[in-house]
Amino acid sequence: MGVVASAPAKVILLGEHFVVYGEPAIVLAIDKRAYAKAETRNDKRLYIRSINLNLTGFFENGAFRVEQGDEKEARSKFEPIKKAVDKVLERYGQNAGLNVEINSTVPVAAGLGSSAAVVSATITAVGALLNLNMSKEDVFRITYEAEKVVHGTPSGIDPAISTFGGTLLFQMDTGFKPIDTRADVPLVIGDTGIERSTRVQVEKVRNLREKYPQVVEPIMNAAREIVLRAIDAFKENDLETLGELMNMNHALLYGIGVSDESLEWLINAARKAGASGAKLTGAGGGGCMIALAKNENLQRVSEAIQMAGGKPYVAKKTDEGVRIEQGA
Ligand code: MEV
Repeated sequence: MGVVASAPAKVILLGEHFVVYGEPAIVLAIDKRAYAKAETRNDKRLYIRSINLNLTGFFENGAFRVEQGDEKEARSKFEPIKKAVDKVLERYGQNAGLNVEINSTVPVAAGLGSSAAVVSATITAVGALLNLNMSKEDVFRITYEAEKVVHGTPSGIDPAISTFGGTLLFQMDTGFKPIDTRADVPLVIGDTGIERSTRVQVEKVRNLREKYPQVVEPIMNAAREIVLRAIDAFKENDLETLGELMNMNHALLYGIGVSDESLEWLINAARKAGASGAKLTGAGGGGCMIALAKNENLQRVSEAIQMAGGKPYVAKKTDEGVRIEQGA
């Protein structure tokens, strides 16, 4: 017996990087989910198994022991889960040993928010298992705390979208607002397979902005206008306009130096295959791109991305944030 919960991955549709300087960004939850199963144990261990990463290990009395896979990798992947579970137990005065089993369909370290999805699903499963009556707001807060362990000073986009789902407008000073949309937003995600560091990419933009403030400032303003225009396109279910705005947003990201050759191949291939728009998503410098395509073009765009050396995933936006799948 146990409880299974799941939480969605995300893509940033528009506004990455510029969001760091206070501009708005649009982020979508997608129908690729991470699953976490929680069970109680008779001892005090937190025993974690990741089926998709082939890693197993446990925390006990402040120490970590790996049972399957590379110790360093297991520790770094499991640390945020440990941090989050500790916070839950601490806040609700519990002291249980737990088994947590993770299974995820979300590509890891590709800018799709896989770690926040795993943590949000785990906390929800543990909360339901122990009858803690956690609200989504509680789950979001604790996931955000755990994310800080991995990413330093993240904007909070990933924990919010994994927990609440839907389509969100995010801005540093105002936080998250749901965007009202009936648009379907059929996407193909193309994974370049090249790992990148968000920190390095953000640093690159900071340097460029310091060196050329008069040049970068208007680029930031243009990025803001793109997002504002996209909110209307969403309301009107106007995917053609959304695609054009994505192309323009990518041009700005290219301009500030965060695209790379691997992304450009996939983006060009997707556009040639009929995508309405294509751009990098997340930090760039590798990682993933996204292409917006009509349903009848999804297959062609996927094939083009594959031919150009990427790994395609067809994805749709989902309104469902974290949810219990089984056992509560
Ligand atoms: C990374 O997924 C998105 C960035 O805008 C950084 C951030 O928002 O923290 C590049």
